[in-house]
Amino acid sequence: MRTQVGIIGSGPAGLLLARLLHLQGIESVILERQSRAYVEGRIRAGVLEQGTVNLLREAQVAERMDREGLIHDGVSLAFDGRSTRIDMHTLTGGSTVLVYGQTEMTRDLIQAHLDAGGVIKYEAPAVAVEDFLTSQPRITYEEAGRRQELTCDFVAGCDGYHGVARKSVAADKIRLFEKIYSFGWLGILSDTPPVDEELIYANHERGFALCSMRSHTRSRYYVQCDLDDQVENWTDDAFWDELRRRIPPQFAERLVTGPRLEMSIAPLRSFVAEPMRFGKLFLAGDAAHIMPPTGAKGLNLAASDIFYLSQALIAYYGQNRADLLDRYSDACLRRVWKAIRFSWWFTSLMHKFGDDPINRRLQLAELDYLANSEAARTAVAENYVGLPFESFE
Ligand code: FAD
Ligand code: PHB
Repeated sequence: MRTQVGIIGSGPAGLLLARLLHLQGIESVILERQSRAYVEGRIRAGVLEQGTVNLLREAQVAERMDREGLIHDGVSLAFDGRSTRIDMHTLTGGSTVLVYGQTEMTRDLIQAHLDAGGVIKYEAPAVAVEDFLTSQPRITYEEAGRRQELTCDFVAGCDGYHGVARKSVAADKIRLFEKIYSFGWLGILSDTPPVDEELIYANHERGFALCSMRSHTRSRYYVQCDLDDQVENWTDDAFWDELRRRIPPQFAERLVTGPRLEMSIAPLRSFVAEPMRFGKLFLAGDAAHIMPPTGAKGLNLAASDIFYLSQALIAYYGQNRADLLDRYSDACLRRVWKAIRFSWWFTSLMHKFGDDPINRRLQLAELDYLANSEAARTAVAENYVGLPFESFE
C-alpha cells in the first residue's frame, strides 16, 4: 500500500493532521492500534485554547464545538480557605478558553474524516518506521494478524508516549528529557451539575484538587493521589468526601454528587524528545512531549505541532518548498518548552510534595502574591489561554 503521508495514531494530533491535509488535496492513511469504539470512549482533556479552536474551525469540524462548547473567561485558585480569580479575559485583552471534551473533539474529527472518504485503519498497530532517512520511508504494521507495509513520502508519528515512531529512532540521534512526579491524579466523571461555573484549582494540605466540567450537567473532578494508588481502592463516596475536604467550604457545601461514569488514575510526567524531525519522520503531540495536566496543555500542544506540520507539508506539496519542513522541529520546540515550563510551575505551586513545611509556606506565599499582584496574575492568564502560535519565519 502507498500514500503521501502515513500517519500513526488516531488521537487528536493524527486526526487533525489528516483532516487539514485532506482539505488541501493531500492524501494520507491513518494506522490506529485500538478500535474506533475504544478511541471514541477514552476520557481525557477538556480545555481548548483559542489557537486550538481556530485550527478546528479551519479543519471544518467546529460546528458542534461552537454550539456545545462553554466559553470560560476565568479560573479560580483556592488556597488557605480563600480563593483568587484569574480573570483571563480582562488580563489578556480578550482571550478565553473553551471547555469541550477531547472525547467529543475526537468523535467530530473521525466522523468528518470518514465522511470525506478519509482512510483510518483501526486495530492496525504500527510495528516500526523504517528507511525514514531515505526518500521512501515505510511503516510496517499488522492487520488481522498479518504483517503489512505502508510506503509513503512522509511519516507522521502521532502515536502518543507509548508509540513506536519515537522508538524507531536510533538512541544516539535523539535526546530525551524526563521528570516523573511522585503522585498522580484520580479523576471522576459524573452526570452532576458542576460545583461552579468556572474551573477551580485547589491547593490543600491534604493534596491538590481540581473541579472541572464537560457541560452544564456533566462534571469532571480530580484529587491528587499516591502513585501506587488504584481505582479499586476508591468508592464513589470516598472520592466525594476527599474532594469536599480539599475545596473551600462554600463550594463543598453545594457540591452535587452522583455515581461515577468513569474513574481513572493518571500519572504525572514532564517529557520532551529533541529533535522532533528525523529525515522523513516527524513526531507530533504526546509522541514528542508529555506534561502534567495541571496547565491543560497536552492536547493544545498536540494541536500547535499540527499547525506547524500541516503548513510545512502543504508548502511542500503546493509550492515545492522544503524549508518549512526543515524548520518544523525548532518552531515546535520553542512553544513546547514554554508549555512544559508552565505546567511544571503550576504543578509545583498547587500539589503536596511530601511533608516539607517550607515547601508549603513557599506555595502559600506565592499564591498570596498572585492574589495581590495583577502583574503576576497576567503572567498566569497569558500562559493558561495559550501563548500565540508564532510564525515559522
Ligand atoms: P494520543 O491522544 O495519545 O493518541 C495517540 C494514538 O496513537 C492513540 O489513539 C493510540 O492508540 C495510538 N497508537 C499508539 N501506539 C500505536 C501504534 N503502535 N500503532 C498505531 N497506533 C498507535 N491533557 C490535558 O490537557 N488535560 C487532561 O486532563 C488530560 N488527561 C489525560 C489522561 C490520560 C489518561 C492521558 C493518557 C492523557 C491525558 N491528557 C490530558 C493529555 C492529552 O490527552 C494528550 O496530550 C493528547 O491526547 C495528545 O494527543 P495525541 O494525538 O498526541 O496522542
Ligand atoms: C479536565 O477537565 O479534564 C481538565 C481541565 C483542566 C486541567 C486538566 C484537566 O488542567
